[in-house]
Amino acid sequence: MRMIKWQNGTVITPDQTKLPLQEVTLEITTVEQMAEAIKTLRVRGAPLLGAAAGFGVALAAYHSKAKTKEKLLSELEDAGSIIKCQRPTAVNLFWGIDRVLNKARSVSGSLEELKDIVIEEAQKIADEDAAQNRAIGKNGSILIKDGDTLLTHCNAGELATVEYGTALGVIRAAWGQGKKIKVIADETRPLLQGARLTAYELKRDGIPVTLITDNMAGYVMSKGLVDKVIVGSDRIVQDGVVNKIGTYSVAVLAHEHGIPFYVAAPKSTFDLAHKASDVIIEERKPEEVTRIGSQQIAPDGINVMNPAFDITPLKYVSAIICETQVYYNKDFVAFKKPVN
Ligand code: MRU
Repeated sequence: MRMIKWQNGTVITPDQTKLPLQEVTLEITTVEQMAEAIKTLRVRGAPLLGAAAGFGVALAAYHSKAKTKEKLLSELEDAGSIIKCQRPTAVNLFWGIDRVLNKARSVSGSLEELKDIVIEEAQKIADEDAAQNRAIGKNGSILIKDGDTLLTHCNAGELATVEYGTALGVIRAAWGQGKKIKVIADETRPLLQGARLTAYELKRDGIPVTLITDNMAGYVMSKGLVDKVIVGSDRIVQDGVVNKIGTYSVAVLAHEHGIPFYVAAPKSTFDLAHKASDVIIEERKPEEVTRIGSQQIAPDGINVMNPAFDITPLKYVSAIICETQVYYNKDFVAFKKPVN
């Protein structure tokens, strides 16, 4: 199912903050609404952020009243800047904006042609992501055996992408091949993407899923209940994989227990010009930690840390599955040089 659609100047996408209790559809018509949806995680997950970013610039083009190409280009640049400053970590957000803006800058036709090309480019990003996730699923499915139990963290599913999912795409592909697999989903505090979104998606699709709290991962591994770990990513740099907070702990635990740790992500998530030390880790508001939903669970005025992501050094990663191939740990030395 398509998670994001363009319909005559409106972007249609589910409000992920309402799931699993309510299925609410957002109809986004302005750059400001798109920015708000990204900031609040109504729209979330790295590949979906890439597509949403492209459509955000397309909204500015579609609704523009500019009379010259210069004015239109400057409005598109402004839209890109507004969207870029909503979340700093997932590289796909920046990649999506830059791809559409670069296309716009290269166009020599009329004002109307420029608008059409911007919208087309945003649509291409979405279509390509849908196809890439199926390729990731197929490439990754060779790593999954009949009977495996896979542990996943956060939500790298259909909801985090345009279609099908990355880590959950691999799981879907293996399940589709008739492999009788099971999934253990970490709940993923503080925002519970595992409990709310991964559990929802897999249960809906009839793939066996068991929910655990994050601090149970070591116990289930020590009991031999996990064969493989598979997660998505927000940014892959020369020396590490950036993903939802808690991924690093799961990777270290997997290493200690001799369990393969796989990352599934499209090439749009690769940022091999940078190192872990260059990455800005988003720090979110304290209330996400001191509350669960509207329920306060900590004393008033307590000091809080709330980093939304962490970085797993590549030594803990067994393989990275992308749309063109599987990179095994021995291949990661090449990440110091640009990959096409
Ligand atoms: O803060 P979120 O929910 O946007 O974080 C999402 C994740 O960390 C995902 O694991 C990642 O984006 C990969 S999604 C295919």
